[in-house]
Amino acid sequence: MNPKEIRNRFLEFFKERGHKIVPSSSLVPENDSTTLFTGSGMQPMVPYLLGESHPLGKRIADSQKSFRSVDIEEVGDNRHTTFFEMLGNWSFGDYFKREQLSWIFEFLVSELKLDPERIYTTVFMGDESNSLPKDNESAEIWKDLFRKKGIEAKELLIGSEDDGSKTGMQGGRIFYYDKNKNWWSRWGCPENMPGGEPGGPDSEIFYDFKTKHDEKFGKHCHPNCDCGRFLEIGNSVFMEYVRNADGSFGKLPRRNVDFGGGLERMGMALRGIPDVIEVNHRPILDYIENVSGKKYGNNAEETKSFRIIADHIKAAVFLIADGVYPSNTDRGYFVRRLIRRSVRYADSLGIMKSTLANLAKTVAEMYSDAYPELNLKTEEIKKEISEEEKRFRKTLTKGLKEFEKGADPFILFTTYGFPFELTQELAAEKGLSVDTAKFRKNLENHQRISRSGSEQKFKGGLGGHSYAEIKYHTATHLLHRALREVLGEHVRQKGSNITSERLRFDFIHSAKMTEKEIERVEKIVNKKIKEDLAVESITLLREEAEKTGALHFFGEKYGEKVNVYYIGGSIDSAWSKEFCGGPHVKRTSELGHFKILKEESSSAGVRRIKAVLE
Ligand code: ALA
Repeated sequence: MNPKEIRNRFLEFFKERGHKIVPSSSLVPENDSTTLFTGSGMQPMVPYLLGESHPLGKRIADSQKSFRSVDIEEVGDNRHTTFFEMLGNWSFGDYFKREQLSWIFEFLVSELKLDPERIYTTVFMGDESNSLPKDNESAEIWKDLFRKKGIEAKELLIGSEDDGSKTGMQGGRIFYYDKNKNWWSRWGCPENMPGGEPGGPDSEIFYDFKTKHDEKFGKHCHPNCDCGRFLEIGNSVFMEYVRNADGSFGKLPRRNVDFGGGLERMGMALRGIPDVIEVNHRPILDYIENVSGKKYGNNAEETKSFRIIADHIKAAVFLIADGVYPSNTDRGYFVRRLIRRSVRYADSLGIMKSTLANLAKTVAEMYSDAYPELNLKTEEIKKEISEEEKRFRKTLTKGLKEFEKGADPFILFTTYGFPFELTQELAAEKGLSVDTAKFRKNLENHQRISRSGSEQKFKGGLGGHSYAEIKYHTATHLLHRALREVLGEHVRQKGSNITSERLRFDFIHSAKMTEKEIERVEKIVNKKIKEDLAVESITLLREEAEKTGALHFFGEKYGEKVNVYYIGGSIDSAWSKEFCGGPHVKRTSELGHFKILKEESSSAGVRRIKAVLE
């Protein structure tokens, strides 16, 4: 079974159990400024976990493209990649622990035919300091499931990862770990969750490769040991909690399930090969073998280079396809880093010529089934990679000269595009030390400045501030309100893009709009324009602003004070209210006549409207 078959089987399996399949969201999160990249399947689902209704119902499954920039340094071992696909299934207030654990076990054992003897699970041991209970219920369900396969599963209380390496397996099959291991939220353990963040205890599934334990990773082996014997292949999060602003925990309006399973890792378990790159990047390895004349797996150092190139180029291809281009700021920095690191490791394999861009085609072919858009964008991606390589080679020569003269690492980075790791390595060769803390601090400041710039641009969906654009911005608010009036309150902004020629508005709604509905929306907007309503704004404490019922993005982190724009009436009685930074016109009559040009599908459950002012 190859990755494509595993993906299809998973989706089919959950479809048969009442789930609607949705396509992967972009690697660039929409309406979510908490993270730069989509790094798990749950991120695009946050509004539904917090209580919104999903337009397709309570059971959803997908395979989500994910990029974890934090793992960039880990790549090179047998199981880490920055890019991966997360198979996901969700229950939004529908089924819970028993169904979830039974189904996922059935999928692994009956569908993928993994040997249940090789499966180990972990559950949450509870956390007294936050009054979060021990998850005995999941442990009981696991016991039942194993018993049905003729396995008497013993429960074992472990505690922390460190405790595990002291005590080892002790014949256990179901292991209780602490909040650092068996609690899931976007922010890690309970203490790190900001207010309004959903989270919950989780139950992880590990596959045993039965490789020999390496004591470098601790005295004894246990499921969460990093020696490589055990591999986490799936995680069921029982998301029923939310952390309040005062740090206490409350229950979400509904009990949810968020399952995430690594597609690539399931492939490893299925083939019994503890090497994520060998199993999932073979065509890329073939290409590198060809151009380098070296064989993958020959020696540890070369193997690491092969793995880094294979992971990084695949990730760069997917990121560029989602519109992230190499640059020195924000998201683009990661793409730059991926490509530049690949070039350096390619050089270390003796390749020394510009050839990595050709891998764009290899990756597109590997994914022609699930992500056909890669094929359409191959030329563009190739061009970006090859130009970045050229720029890098140029700055490499220049930067080396500056390095020799003793330039500051941050200046080398910003002015010469010189990767910090490279500065570190060169310095090490010369027996010099580099001030890492100072570099990181400079970089953080640099990124914060560029990020706040891009957020402002993004939130309002407003590209520029010309009068034409400002008019479209106000029209967008009227449209949003009118859509909710005609289609229902489930309508919610998914994206907005404004030019001086038109507005484009993406919103949650599952069906195509009828001509009647379109007409009614136009009529309402034009009526509000004719009424010559005042457009006003007020700054309020966030909680007060929420109480006014003003629309805002769920899952978005707003500051203590927010700005609300309201149209027609006082802040209490206004017809339209939204959290918004503006700017807007003074009166609606300035807009002229509003006309919808097009209504189409944007992605599953999301519609797109293009409209003009005449
Ligand atoms: N959201 C969970 C994870 O990423 C499933 O592990």
